[in-house]
Amino acid sequence: MNREEFKAKFNIVARSKEINDVVDIIMQVAKSDISVLLYGESGVGKEVFAKSIHGFSNRADKPLISVNCGAIPEGILESELFGHKKGSFTGAVETRKGYFELADGGTLFLDEIAETPLTTQVKLLRAIENKEFMRIGAETVTKVDVRIIAATNKDLQKEVAVKKFREDLYFRLKAVSLNIPPLRERKIDIEPLALHFMASYCKNLNIPFPKLTNEALEILINYPWPGNIRELKNTIESVLALNPGKTLTDEHFNHLIAQTENYETPRNLPVFTRKLPEDVDREILYRALFELKKDILELKEILLKQSDYFNSDNSSLEKTEEILDMIELEKSAILKALEKTHWNKRKAAKLLNISERTLYRKLKEYDIKIW
Ligand SMILES: Nc1ncnc2c1ncn2[C@@H]1O[C@H](COP(=O)(O)OP(=O)(O)O)[C@@H](O)[C@H]1O
Ligand SMILES: [Mg+2]
Repeated sequence: MNREEFKAKFNIVARSKEINDVVDIIMQVAKSDISVLLYGESGVGKEVFAKSIHGFSNRADKPLISVNCGAIPEGILESELFGHKKGSFTGAVETRKGYFELADGGTLFLDEIAETPLTTQVKLLRAIENKEFMRIGAETVTKVDVRIIAATNKDLQKEVAVKKFREDLYFRLKAVSLNIPPLRERKIDIEPLALHFMASYCKNLNIPFPKLTNEALEILINYPWPGNIRELKNTIESVLALNPGKTLTDEHFNHLIAQTENYETPRNLPVFTRKLPEDVDREILYRALFELKKDILELKEILLKQSDYFNSDNSSLEKTEEILDMIELEKSAILKALEKTHWNKRKAAKLLNISERTLYRKLKEYDIKIW
């Protein structure tokens, strides 16, 4: 299989030397069991490359199990990874296999590896090195044969320096490390990707392929795509959905221009001369959240005072409705933050001043789905 056939097989669209080089290395190392560490911002295609490594390996007919180490609550990550024996802790009503066992013979993709708590890192390293581990609560070891691919958007070396990531695990994971550059650093890929997403959207919906004007394309090329390919795909799909059958012109992408200016201002201006647009956004959000918190506290007080009457009149019902409104408010603050950060969960969490893990939990709680 040559490079172009490989790209076609795994749906990788790229014209840039950077990505073609990554593909060449992947083709060379896929068939071995060597660990691969993928670096890159959110949306650059880390998962796409992980899938292609697995798909091109001799393990392709065995499972590829993806684990997002940043999204699973700390307390249950270990039992998710290694499984547990029935009765080993409250709630362990049945013996359960962990991801390591589920991936046996195949590949384990550890996404957002930098978010793994240090205690779990120790066990992870041991499991990878010895190819065996113990289910939580078990007395015997379980043997597995898995190939590890890890991904992160953090500089792991820095995490090692500040003792947030174990050096031994870092060395174990980075046997081959590949950097997937952001889309704005390989603008040559924007056009083929845009056309690719247009084609697949139109094919899926069985609608004719529209024209894309040069001016529209120019906007797409100049926009810095902080959400990378994921954002490009979503932008194309929403413009297509809103303008069925129309030629896509610069007007359809004008909203990106305002964002382009916003994005580049902080880079070109010395930061101390004025407030960055992100800071203003953050301030507005903080204020909204602060108000929200105040409201909740007040509401709590009212509820406590009225608790005596709870069963005697219907005020409790009204209060419940107000609480539901609070939930809606929080939900909309989260959605706003996500929108502002182009659906970058890390940045959104920062903007909301909550941890990424809390954000994930809330997304799940409110059933907000992001791809
Ligand atoms: N080179 C590429 N060619 C085609 N689609 C891509 C490419 N890279 C990423 N994508 C698409 O962009 C989206 C985000 O990719 P993903 O692998 O999930 O990014 P990451 O894991 O780095 O956040 C997915 O829909 C994926 O299919
Ligand atoms: Mg991903």
